[in-house]
Amino acid sequence: MDKMDNLIFEIFPWNRNFECGIAHIDNQHQNLVKILNKLAINLANLSIDLVLNEIFDELINYTGYHFSTEEKIPIIFITALTEVADETRGFEVGGVDYITKPVSKPIVQARVKTHLALHKQNQILEETVEKRTAELKHALDKMESYSLDSIIRLCRASEYRDEDTGAHIYRMSHYSAAIARQMSLGETVTKWILYAAPMHDIGKIGIPDRILLKPGKLNDEEWQIMKQHSIFGGKILENSKAGYLKLGQIIALTHHEKWDGSGYPNGLKGKKIPMVGQIVAVADVFDALTSKRPYKEPFSIEKSLDIIKEGSGNHFNPEVVQAFIAIKQEILNIKEKFQDKNENSLTLS
Ligand SMILES: [Fe+2]
Ligand SMILES: [Fe+2]
Repeated sequence: MDKMDNLIFEIFPWNRNFECGIAHIDNQHQNLVKILNKLAINLANLSIDLVLNEIFDELINYTGYHFSTEEKIPIIFITALTEVADETRGFEVGGVDYITKPVSKPIVQARVKTHLALHKQNQILEETVEKRTAELKHALDKMESYSLDSIIRLCRASEYRDEDTGAHIYRMSHYSAAIARQMSLGETVTKWILYAAPMHDIGKIGIPDRILLKPGKLNDEEWQIMKQHSIFGGKILENSKAGYLKLGQIIALTHHEKWDGSGYPNGLKGKKIPMVGQIVAVADVFDALTSKRPYKEPFSIEKSLDIIKEGSGNHFNPEVVQAFIAIKQEILNIKEKFQDKNENSLTLS
């Protein structure tokens, strides 16, 4: 406190003591706003804990709010201005205290000490809150990633019945996310689609092997049973409170609906089909076309793209097809990256 003694009562145009971290500003002979602006520019490089701001007649025009709040440095006004309006203005512009003249040295010292202590406490509190918030976020992120990992593994388990490695769900999920990004649906929706799309065929778990694994064409009765996988998927995932599962339920139920209304299970038409269902439909069909299935060999990329284009306006939403074609190279990169043989690189992150 000794170093403050000189500061508080010496009247200079302005004076800063960097050692004890207190700035004393006196605008008796200078334009206060100019000084503060100048000081604010340099403030980031200075080690100031508190400002004693001596003012005389310019408080009404004083715009030092940014100085004392954004930089989070407490500012105490010392002034002969005793009107309530002046004092109010002092607090409005960010002052933490307002001391009127004549000043008492012990009182100023006590207030400075109090505000330094308060400021220090606030800093510690802010740092603690920041640290705890970061820890909480980290814990939540971890929990989310574990939940998603569990979901993906359950989806892989159901895919294993008719897929060798389950790579299909990784490819079609990344295709879906890439389309969503191309359609500017936003980063959050894109991420949610990436994690919800793997659930599209989870209902296949309810389809008997003799139908699911049949190498040849399904007869009418078998096909009716096969089509029920979308309803089963919807039922498995319904009534969840988790966002990803809710989205997964919509995708499971609607990924076989068609733009012209000829799809299943509900024959929804056009924009009545949720956008996520429309997107996953294109991604899922393209991957099925370019993959080996019990009933067919893989089609070439060009033939598969032609089939997708031909489906525009009847099977698929034209806007989704347009987005898909526009990112053809990205789609091919995903296809290359998530091959069945690259089992260790199968990931959604
Ligand atoms: Fe399906
Ligand atoms: Fe699929």
